[in-house]
Order: sequence, then C-alpha cells, then structure tokens
Amino acid sequence: MRKNIVAGNWKMNKNLQEGVELAKELNEALKGKTINCDVVIGTPFIHLAAVANIVDSDKIGVAAQNCANKVSGAYTGEVSAEMVASTGAKYVILGHSERRAYYHETAEILKEKVGLTLANGLTPIFCIGEVLEERESEKHFDVVKSQIVDSLFELSAEDFGKIVLAYEPVWAIGTGKTASPAQAQEMHAFIRKTLVEKYGNEVANNTSILYGGSANADNAKELFSNPDVDGGLIGGASLSVDKFMPVIEAF
Ligand code: 13P
Repeated sequence: MRKNIVAGNWKMNKNLQEGVELAKELNEALKGKTINCDVVIGTPFIHLAAVANIVDSDKIGVAAQNCANKVSGAYTGEVSAEMVASTGAKYVILGHSERRAYYHETAEILKEKVGLTLANGLTPIFCIGEVLEERESEKHFDVVKSQIVDSLFELSAEDFGKIVLAYEPVWAIGTGKTASPAQAQEMHAFIRKTLVEKYGNEVANNTSILYGGSANADNAKELFSNPDVDGGLIGGASLSVDKFMPVIEAF
C-alpha cells in the first residue's frame, strides 16, 4: 500500500549553518519516536551533503528542490540529478509552481528532469496545481490533469510507480488560505481516478499524493484524514521543529 509522507520544502531559506542546525534538531526530535509516516526535508542544493550526513536515513529522507534537465557539461550554475544523488539525497521536488512561474519550467523540461531523476535512482516529488483564476473558472481539474499527462504519462507503469505527486493549489501556497479538506479530497480523488485510467488500480492505489499549501499543525490532521490525501508538502511550517513536528505527528 502507498506510503504516508510528510515532506518539508525549505525553499530559499536558511544559510548552511542554520539548515544544519534545523536538520540536527529534527533528527533529535524524531529519535526514539514512533512515527506513522515517512519524513522528508527538501533543502537548498548546498545543504544536501551536510544534511544527508547528519540525519538518520531510516527516519529522514533528504530532497533537492530542483535539478538540471541535462546530464552534464557546459551548463553554468546547474546541478545535475547525478550530483544530487551523490550527496546522499533520495528525492527531488520537481515542477513546483514557483519554478514553473518564475523560471519558466515547461511540461517538456519537467519531463526531462523526471527522466534524469529516475535514471539516477531518485524519487521525484512532482508538483501540480492550478492558479486561482483557473479554479474560479472551473478549469482546475483540466489544468491538473494536463500537468500530469504532459510530463508523466509517457513513463512506463514501473517508472510511474516510483513517482510521488504533490497537489499544491497555487492560491493556497504561502497565503494562509488552505484548501478545505473537502476540496483537497475532491482533487486527490480526481487525480487518482486519472491514474487508474492510465495505469490501472494497482499503480494508482500505490501512488502517494501529498497536499501542499498553507498546511500546518492546525489543519494537518483534518487534511490527512481524507482517504486520498497521503501526506503533505510543507513550506513555512517546515522551517522550525516546533511547527513541523506536529504536522508529522498528525499521522
Ligand atoms: P506553504 O506551506 O508555505 O504554503 O508552502 C507550500 C509549498 O509550496 C510547499 O512546496
């Protein structure tokens, strides 16, 4: 059966020393605790190796927040999936709405990144989600379906089985305006139905679909109690152990 996952996305926060400190604190807080979900922290690139070294890998997986769509070579400033894997990180967050919007990541570029991530033994946490105007004009299901189809549906069933999805309605990210548990469940069930149609019940039922967008200690329990919400991708509330632990413990 699919895993429950609580993943933090630190975004562009914390210098190296602060990030290492936060990872240490989280590692300590999880020691000796029985946790009913996998825990992942998505750090900036420069933190990956240090953080992967510090944390107990049985308890905490480390994620990059991006990787290059090229294998290697003359791409100044880029970081390849192979480099990410060499740090000890196990996941790569891909297709975050901030990368789609500010860095013009297209479905095609994301398809390349997903392929390289899988080729290097990493798990993509693939983000999808509509903007407010799309929801208000009732295009949100079509938008989310296209994001999945255009970047992921050329994968074999075996490769698709390695993907984690994160539904992050853009209007809920960093706004304090969370999707209601019913809105989250409705979209997650739609996503799962889309996966059933393409890959069948087994792959669809084994795919973890996380919710992201102003998820925190106050709303995590209710969000995670929905049958198709398998965890969260947490931004702001992942930046301190005090705020992140209650989200982890919501399972
Ligand atoms: P917030 O939890 O800060 O709204 O961010 C969500 C997010 O974008 C996680 O990737």
